[in-house]
Parts: sequence; structure tokens; C-alpha cells
Amino acid sequence: MTIQLVNDVTAQLKPYPMEELSRIRGALVKAGKPVFDFGTGDPKIPTWSPIRDAIIKAIPQISQYPSVKGSDALRDAQWSYLTRRFGIARTNDIGIIPSQGSKEAIFNIALCLVGRSGGKKHLIYPDPGYPVYRSSAQFAGGIPYPVRVSEADGYLLKPWTLPENVQKSAAAIWVNHPHNPTGATANYQYWQELIAWCHKTDTVLLSDDCYVDIYDTKLDQNINVDPQFDSRPLTPLMFTSDRVLTFMSLSKRSGLTGYRSGMIAGDHRIVSSLLQARANFGVGSPDFIQAGSVVAWSDDDHVAERRKIFSHRLKLATPHLQNLGLIDNIPEATFYLWCRVPKSFKNDDVGFILKLAELGIITSPSSWLSEGIGGYFRLALVPGDDDTLHAMDLMTKFIKSVN
Ligand SMILES: Cc1ncc(COP(=O)(O)O)c(C=O)c1O
Repeated sequence: MTIQLVNDVTAQLKPYPMEELSRIRGALVKAGKPVFDFGTGDPKIPTWSPIRDAIIKAIPQISQYPSVKGSDALRDAQWSYLTRRFGIARTNDIGIIPSQGSKEAIFNIALCLVGRSGGKKHLIYPDPGYPVYRSSAQFAGGIPYPVRVSEADGYLLKPWTLPENVQKSAAAIWVNHPHNPTGATANYQYWQELIAWCHKTDTVLLSDDCYVDIYDTKLDQNINVDPQFDSRPLTPLMFTSDRVLTFMSLSKRSGLTGYRSGMIAGDHRIVSSLLQARANFGVGSPDFIQAGSVVAWSDDDHVAERRKIFSHRLKLATPHLQNLGLIDNIPEATFYLWCRVPKSFKNDDVGFILKLAELGIITSPSSWLSEGIGGYFRLALVPGDDDTLHAMDLMTKFIKSVN
């Protein structure tokens, strides 16, 4: 008999989707094939140099443990961002904690919320969605509750339609707008309805806002102090901090994926407990990363430059995908395109992406980004313009040859 040396949750984990994609990529590189990698959402755009300079300058001769709370300078910069971008006035009702990107914070929050007040064990999240929502609930001993979101519903998760017992025992709900993988955004009315539901059912609203600054440049034409009339993506923290936590990140905003920097901001009552809990996790951000993050949160121009790059890539790629009948609408946010698999592949998204991989084009199938949704694949607009066009050309020829 073989002994299982890890617990059931660990033993039963499926490979993390991005690990699987790196394996495919590795095989292509080994075979000497050109690779067009639309798999992982990690664009290779040089980091804005003042951020790098600040980090280099801050690397100390003697390195000591960072605090969980982070520096005052960082908090000031994060506050200044929240006020500039969302019109949120500085208040003691909102607490902020720096995180090492949002992934660890998304994972760790489940450990703090699952099982709260009278056994609330469900963690509700959208499917398709970021895989850590599910795994965090599993590791925390909670009940993961995926809710299938669809194009017909604007990919909005509507928890008021769920069974009564789930609504009652929800510890927290994840939403993610702009949404990975579909690029869907949520409007003013949706946020209001969702917050009202959270308050009614005493559910903590967890808003994964890592793409909130990655939107089509055309939305910048409609900036308004009143969120009802601002066309840019919103965060629920603009409405209330009561039982709301937002998870923001410099990964997509400033391209700092490798540096690991983000923040949790929201209900000060939860944040003060999180401060204590996180001291156990050992996730204080290194001081030199905090120094670079101060520069990143304090500037908006480098982010506008990044938006221009992604908007341009959207314009390059989408006509090809529309011509092939793989997408109808162009998303207004993120750098993702959620495409239908060509008809000739029926719903076989994995079969299709493996065929694309033979051409050197790496994409993510919906089955790996969801809990059983077939028939879609995601393109992350990571490659540069020439590679994007070249890949679209290859894909068009291939699809036309099999249809
Ligand atoms: C929806 C979503 N949330 C969170 C993350 C985590 O990003 P990071 O930890 O780099 O901030 C990602 C990364 O791709 C994501 O797509």
C-alpha cells in the first residue's frame, strides 16, 4: 500500500494551468520552433525606469525583516492613488495592507474568512475565473462554490439567484471586473446590487481589481467624479468599505509581475485582524520593493502608456478573430480575448489549442481556466505587434484549412 504523504487537497490538485502551458512552450523551444506565446498574462514590456531606479537605490547593505504593515510612504502613495483614480477620500474606515502581488493575498484571505460567524463556509466565485479562488477555499477547509457566468449575463455573478442555504452560509464572494478571462466589466448598478446583497446576507465582498487600470484607451474620454458617469472600470470601494475588500496589484498596472507588489484595501475592521494574521504568513513586502511601489502608485502616465500598447494590440488582433467567427464583441478591458473554438472542433478546446501549439501558438483552453467549461480559448495579448499579426495569419490559414 502506498502511503499518501500529503493531505487530500494537496494530493488531488490538478496541475496549475500556467505550469501546463510552460511545459508545452518548453517542448516547442526544444524543437527549435518559433513560439507565439499568448498563454500566460505576463506581457514583456520594459518596466518604467524610475520604478527600477527606486528599487535599486533602496537595496540596503543590511537587509532586515520587513513589517507586515508596510511603510508610511507606501501607504501615502496607495492612498493618493485611490483618491486620484477612484475619488476615495482618505478615511480611517479604510485600512490598507501591502501584499506581495495579489495572488498570495487572494489565497490567504480564505484562511481568515472561511468559517466565520456561525460556520459560514461557502466561498462563492465566478467560473470561469482565477483558479486560486477555488484552491484557497479547499485549503482553508471551506466549500468552494463556483457560479457559471455567461455571455448572456454579461459575465456577472448574481448571488441573489443562488440556493437560499448557500446565500446564508456564504463567508465571502469573489468578483473580478474587469474579468479574467473574458474582459467583462461591471456597471454602477451591478455594484450597487451586489453590495446590497452582501450587506443583506452578511457576506464579505472580495473584489479582485488587478485589471482595473487595464482598459481600452477610449474609456479615458469619459472621466467623471460621479462613478455613475465614469466609463472606466469601477471598484466597490467607491461605494462603501463596509464588508468590502479590494485586491489591487502593480502586476498588470505597472508590469511588476516579477517584483510582487499589491495591496489589500477595505473595511478597517477586517484589515486590522488581517494585519495580525498576516504576521503569521510571513508576507511583508521587502522594503526595496515598497520603495519601487511608491513610485509606481504615484504615477499614472506610465500606466496610460501601457494601456495604449494593449489597446493597439486589441485593434490588431480582433478583426481577424471576428472574421473567423471566434468573437463577436471587442472587450473594453484587460488584454484578454475569450474566443470560441472553431465549429469544426465542436467543443474540444484542449484539442484545438494543442493543434495551435503545433503551429507555435500557445493559448489557454477554457477547460483549464474553468471547472468544466468547454469550447473556448483565451488569448493573452502578450506578444508584440509583429508576432501578434504573424500568429493571426497562421491561425487564419489553419482554421480555414480545417473548416
Ligand atoms: C484575475 C487575477 N487575479 C489575480 C492575479 C494575480 O496577480 P498578481 O499576483 O501578479 O497580482 C491574476 C494574475 O494573472 C489574475 O488574472
